Amino acid sequence: MADTSVPRFALASGAPGGTRADVLVLFADDSVRPNGAVAAIDRALSGQLLRAAREEGFRGKPEQTFVLHSHGRLPAVRVVLVGTGAPEKMDAESLRQAAGRGIKAAQRVRARSVAVAVPGNPIETLAPVAEGAALGAYRFDQYLTERREERVPLASVRLLVPDGASRSRSLGETLRRVLHVTEAANLARDLVNEPAGQLTPERLAEEASRAAKTHGLELRVSGPRELKKLRMGMFSAVGQGSQNTPRLIEVIYRPKKAAAAKARPVALVGKAITFDSGGLSLKTAENMADMKTDMAGSAAVLGAVQVAAELEPPFPVHGYLGAAENMPSGAAYRPGDVLVSRAGKTVEVTNTDAEGRLVLGDVLTYAVEEKPVAVIDLATLTGACVVALGNWVGGLFSNSDPLANELLEASARAGEAFWRLPLVELQRETLRSEIADMKNLGERWGGAITAAMFLREFVGDTPWAHLDIAGPSQAPRERGYFAKGATGVGVRTLAEFLFHRARR
Ligand code: BES
Ligand code: ZN
Ligand code: ZN
Repeated sequence: MADTSVPRFALASGAPGGTRADVLVLFADDSVRPNGAVAAIDRALSGQLLRAAREEGFRGKPEQTFVLHSHGRLPAVRVVLVGTGAPEKMDAESLRQAAGRGIKAAQRVRARSVAVAVPGNPIETLAPVAEGAALGAYRFDQYLTERREERVPLASVRLLVPDGASRSRSLGETLRRVLHVTEAANLARDLVNEPAGQLTPERLAEEASRAAKTHGLELRVSGPRELKKLRMGMFSAVGQGSQNTPRLIEVIYRPKKAAAAKARPVALVGKAITFDSGGLSLKTAENMADMKTDMAGSAAVLGAVQVAAELEPPFPVHGYLGAAENMPSGAAYRPGDVLVSRAGKTVEVTNTDAEGRLVLGDVLTYAVEEKPVAVIDLATLTGACVVALGNWVGGLFSNSDPLANELLEASARAGEAFWRLPLVELQRETLRSEIADMKNLGERWGGAITAAMFLREFVGDTPWAHLDIAGPSQAPRERGYFAKGATGVGVRTLAEFLFHRARR
């Protein structure tokens, strides 16, 4: 998997005007009077920074970036201004976005070393700036063999904070924590971006095993025979049409202290369809094009458990990745088949493209058997959720208001947008089958809701939340700290959720 070089991040101090780097990133809001590092550098350049910026239409608006070569008038070769918009509207997310854009602008001019002037009070601003920078540095380029000289790897990012602050233990700790989270989010992005021909269920298990070794997690992998033994009739059926056989991958963080290790776990369940062709209910060419990303939920789960190993919350975190390739073949499951789930419920398959809920149903049943305090599943589950909420917002469903609110708060802190959608009881009747306990597909309208209600059948009384990330798992274009492609969505929300629970 991607051994793409990751830049080294470090705290540093010293005046930005005396800082040697290929690029110096400065944050500029849209107020007329610049302050802090922007004003200092502008003075050092005799007013030419802001004059040139204004002449080029730079107004400090979000999404605006301006690059100026210093021609030897500063130790920094270039200055990059990133707009943060109205100062009164500035929040953690606008800092993350701006930092991400600054790093991307630096990479475009082939910078090896970047210094970022962290604006304001670093106790508040360091985390979002570092996070945006580390996420913004991500590139998926290991398959590019041409134009290598244009892809100079960024080697170091120094985060400039006021004198003395660079040796602050708590800032150092903040930076370390942020980098654990961004490393996990970038791992999730790598897994999602990896082509399905490479990332089979077996390979995903290997990647999980690698993460488990590095971070000291327990790992258990079950193959097709074990899935049958576990009576996961729905999960098995989805995987049976592919040469690349299914895997149930369990990754477990267990606290070192005995009391904490005995606490009830938080369970995280991820959909890992490594490729969704639709099966015999084959997708159109257009709809199939991006379906290597149908394992984004599980990538987020793996990332989150990896973060747990570093944050060390005082309770276990169980991650379950339900991995299968949904393919048409002579061995594939068929429309009309009736499957027996681990829970004992029978399900009539009316469409083999509604496969995620079948896999998740069995895995959720299995996960709640461990009596978790809460189970959270993440899945690129429905196109309907993308229709409802678009590309930048995920859907959240839950049978528990406190859990839903806790997740919404965590997602807001993380800067990952989710919107709660209702589990409308009337919608349940569209899943009624004549010959089995349920069908796997309801009517077209409200498809995201019906899919969530299908999952709810398998969680019993356990507090449960379902995050439909079909929209935000992929960015349709570069934006802020997102590159086009996988976003790693979910990792940061789950990390915030676990971090907050660890502290309460
Ligand atoms: N993996 C898809 C959902 C999806 C769609 C994810 C678009 C990302 C982008 C899921 O398995 C699926 O195929 N859902 C179908 C259900 C259909 C059979 C009604 C869908 O939403 O179109
Ligand atoms: Zn599908
Ligand atoms: Zn799918």
